[in-house]
Amino acid sequence: MRVLGIETSCDETAAAVVSGEGEILSNVIRSQIDEHSPYGGVVPEIAARAHVEVLDGLIEQAMAEAGTGFADLDGVAVTSGPGLIGGVMVGLMTAKAIASVHQKPLIAVNHLEAHALSARLTDGVAFPYLLLLVSGGHCQLLIVRGVGDFTRLGTTIDDAVGEAFDKTAKLLGLGYPGGPAVEAAAVDGDPDRFDLPRPLLNRDDCHFSLSGLKTAVRREAEKLEPMTDKDRADLCASFQAAIGDVLAAKTGRAMETFVSEEKVAGAAMLGEGGAHRQQGPVGDLGTKTALSPRPVLVTAGGVAANQFLRNRLSNLCADKGFNLVCPPPALCTDNAAMIAWAGVERLRLGLVDDVSAPARARWPLDPGAPPVGGAGVKA
Ligand code: KG4
Ligand code: ZN
Repeated sequence: MRVLGIETSCDETAAAVVSGEGEILSNVIRSQIDEHSPYGGVVPEIAARAHVEVLDGLIEQAMAEAGTGFADLDGVAVTSGPGLIGGVMVGLMTAKAIASVHQKPLIAVNHLEAHALSARLTDGVAFPYLLLLVSGGHCQLLIVRGVGDFTRLGTTIDDAVGEAFDKTAKLLGLGYPGGPAVEAAAVDGDPDRFDLPRPLLNRDDCHFSLSGLKTAVRREAEKLEPMTDKDRADLCASFQAAIGDVLAAKTGRAMETFVSEEKVAGAAMLGEGGAHRQQGPVGDLGTKTALSPRPVLVTAGGVAANQFLRNRLSNLCADKGFNLVCPPPALCTDNAAMIAWAGVERLRLGLVDDVSAPARARWPLDPGAPPVGGAGVKA
């Protein structure tokens, strides 16, 4: 099986071809950082136009690198939400055109599901597992029971984690995208210099609130003006430490819920190596004999590329008896290999779409999750 994946939901245009065994045959990506950095963030109209300009060429490159013709494909998978609607439409229309002309199944992929399933591509994780999804638009804790089967345990009531990184970077003059810039600046900083808030830390649930933290960073920054590089590094380190504490506390709570709800001891890993190293069809992943006695925490989304946070979560997992699975950074940030892989998983289950598939700005993984108190919920 060979599936073409297309990703255009934010500021990366990407195309990839992945095999049914989870081999990444090609994975090309073009970032729009140069187009957006003068504005300090992603400008939706610029993003959509930039996708139009490069997508055809990237698909051609991905197909050539994979040594695949359209006739050899078994399906065309494309992000059809959630995301910036103009960009999503560019990818979706392109995928529909390819699928129609070559008479291939179209798979309309939820971008968040693709992040969620990427750990099965890289590490062959079996269902169920706990997922901490931390990206530019989302901050959620979910139980992943299967393809299209998610229970949301927690979400943010205001900013997403990546958004908090990006806004912090912007107000400290560190440029865009903010996450890698804050992480780099924090390396030489003192995480204890500023006593920043840990919002909702002691509330007995798995929800997040991060806008107050960002405001606290702004207040400290204003007091420091003019800021030195040392001030900036200390503020970034203190900010990152606060995020680490909040993510660890909420994920720790979610682990307890996960273990008691799923009764998972002994059921979560297939052992070392990615899906491409497994024997037999990937559709069997969920039913194979488990080799590890420990439940699994998967982190995915762009913020999962952050090494400080990975270490923090790794310590949490050691304390709680979980295995931590983080896809490599290039497969945590947006990419098309994860879209193609989600396409493989759906295709195996016969979950295909047709040309009526809509582009969706919002598309929650657990539509039945109860609303969370607080303004501007990004569920
Ligand atoms: O998953 P992603 O590429 O796009 C979305 O689906 O949103 O995530 C992008 C987010 C941005 O907010 C970016 O600043 C953040 O991930 N990010 C990081 C790091 N690398 C990317 N945040 C913290 N540390 C990083 N190293
Ligand atoms: Zn993403």
